[in-house]
Amino acid sequence: MSGGLHQGKRVLVTAGAAGIGRAIARAFSDQGAYVHVCDIDEAAIAALAQESPAITATHADVANEDDVARVFQDFAGGYQALDVLVNNAGIAGPTGPVESLKLDDWRACIAVNLDATFLFTRLAVPKMKEAGSGVILNLSSTAGIMGYPGRTPYASAKWAVIGLTKSLAMELGPHGVRVNAICPGAISGERMDRVIAAEAHATGKAPQDIRDGYTQAVSLRTFIEAEDIAATAVFLASDAASKITGQALPVDGHTEALSG
Ligand SMILES: NC(=O)c1ccc[n+]([C@@H]2O[C@H](COP(=O)([O-])OP(=O)(O)OC[C@H]3O[C@@H](n4cnc5c(N)ncnc54)[C@H](O)[C@@H]3O)[C@@H](O)[C@H]2O)c1
Repeated sequence: MSGGLHQGKRVLVTAGAAGIGRAIARAFSDQGAYVHVCDIDEAAIAALAQESPAITATHADVANEDDVARVFQDFAGGYQALDVLVNNAGIAGPTGPVESLKLDDWRACIAVNLDATFLFTRLAVPKMKEAGSGVILNLSSTAGIMGYPGRTPYASAKWAVIGLTKSLAMELGPHGVRVNAICPGAISGERMDRVIAAEAHATGKAPQDIRDGYTQAVSLRTFIEAEDIAATAVFLASDAASKITGQALPVDGHTEALSG
């Protein structure tokens, strides 16, 4: 596409072969950007290659330091500079009262949501500082701005993502680099289906009651679409948002509570 909002920009999206990451990757590609993704799911990467051949990909675990270095090598092989990094990767983590949680499950949740954001950012920053420009977008959650009973590891990781975002915005602002977090509400799709099933299992409540609980606490009484998040990412990375940094922006229909 010529004349797109992000024509010729070089964009890296973590965990971008499915879900919100795929919607973000496609939205930037539709706006004329060169987009590279990484993902742990080879089948999802193959499907993306078929559907969106312009988007390149590396098979990688975002929580593995060597894999992250390999993603940057692949990216640098294609494009010299990096304009936009979207730290999208995140897993739901375990569900249950804190005393029932296993340390390994806690660590895995922190690793994919928080460690990965650090690992990718650490390699992106020198390129952006050198260019004197750049945008970093971190996927937090409504669980990063309010408590989430039964999901303490996830809420802890997503609050930490906002602390990282605000600190980085202060570190990198003088270098012309903007850093913002996006806080999606509950997104329609397979992941929320899994989350609701896990909550039903942990609490003994009916899945439909849990689903209704999510939308009842949302002023717009709706789930959010992955494309809503992609549109926000495209905006935050654009010149229209050139004075916006250090913010945690909810895209959640105004969520007032998270059930557990
Ligand atoms: N889905 C929601 O309701 C929701 C709500 C708020 C925030 N978020 C956040 O948005 C982001 C994207 O969520 P989603 O719902 O699209 O996720 P998802 O569960 O649909 O997964 C998206 C992709 O992540 C990949 N992935 C998982 N672990 C990985 C790893 N270790 N390394 C590389 N790739 C990995 C998967 O293979 C998949 O292709 C996450 O940070 C999530 O926490 C999601």
